[in-house]
Amino acid sequence: MTDRKTIIRSVGAYLPARILTNEELAKTVDTSDEWIVQRTGIRQRHIAAEGENTSDLAAAAGRRAMENAGLEIGDIDLIVCATTTPDMTFPATAAIVQQKLGMHHGAAFDIQAVCSGFVYAVGTADSFLKNGMGKRALVIGAETASRLLDWNDRTTCVLFGDGAGAVVMEMGKPSEPERGVLATALRSDGHFWNKLYTDGGPSSTQSMGHVRMEGKEVFKHAVGMITDVVYKVLEDTGHTIEDLDWFVPHQANKRIIDGAGVKLGLPPEKVVITVDRHANTSAASVPLALNTAVADGRIKRGDLVMIEAMGGGFTWGASLIRW
Ligand code: UT7
Repeated sequence: MTDRKTIIRSVGAYLPARILTNEELAKTVDTSDEWIVQRTGIRQRHIAAEGENTSDLAAAAGRRAMENAGLEIGDIDLIVCATTTPDMTFPATAAIVQQKLGMHHGAAFDIQAVCSGFVYAVGTADSFLKNGMGKRALVIGAETASRLLDWNDRTTCVLFGDGAGAVVMEMGKPSEPERGVLATALRSDGHFWNKLYTDGGPSSTQSMGHVRMEGKEVFKHAVGMITDVVYKVLEDTGHTIEDLDWFVPHQANKRIIDGAGVKLGLPPEKVVITVDRHANTSAASVPLALNTAVADGRIKRGDLVMIEAMGGGFTWGASLIRW
């Protein structure tokens, strides 16, 4: 294990072309734009086209991340894909992405930590690279959550959307020792699995199932779990909330993000919010938000960036990155 850190070299993202607004949704399910905006901050979500699979979204985001770094697939030797909506039960979606990107070498596997998947994937890739198990990783969060929804259940179907985001991670240069992933904290407590789950799966029902959620229960635990891991990585690195330039949270519900921001004492202008544009895209939400804030010039080299997520399992995690 080296003392050097892994850096995030670039970001990329992809959202399917089709946009489904709250108003459109209210025509088919008993809900309203007003209720959805007030309770969640969501205004619209993107829906993958027929035949467009999670691996297509993941490969598109991955290609953009590589382009933004001036890299080609030959430069990557590890693909880690966080997803809860794999193309198939097996093989791993990462393997299909590997094929779509034309990569024959290296290794590719999926991470399943639901909405926390991307933070888990960053932590995993960070450990792999620091241990010499790969030189450069394409770390992806990608979901076609729309395929897991019961479109008659208004308590869940209004909340989710499809999308993908990706980062290229590699070892930092000795000339820039301050840059990189400073610390990651990952947590889970499986006693909460039945608060947010699918009512099916290959082993239990031999079917896929649909998302089922006790929304209030998830909400009740979310802020505490988020702040728990944020404080942990701050403590591990000797930083304080005041040191943060950007807080890039999982985009599930604006009220949860606002609640965490208030509890942490974060000024709202340091919080990146994109949930209004793409709803909860599970493992894709953090890299989608990162991509937005990097592309619009908010996140710059040298900034201190906290990413965090919480979701099914329950799982939760945070990572502090010197950009
Ligand atoms: O990544 C983690 C993934 N999950 C989450 O982050 C979700 C966490 N939970 C939440 O975001 C919120 O709990 C929800 C947005 C899901 C719900 O908000 P809430 O303020 O907890 O509302 P509620 O469940 O208490 O429902 C309030 C009312 C109920 O009606 P009654 O019983 O008061 O008459 C619901 O039936 O709103 C009703 N309702 C709806 N009304 C219109 C529930 N869903 C809808 C809907 N449109 N889509």
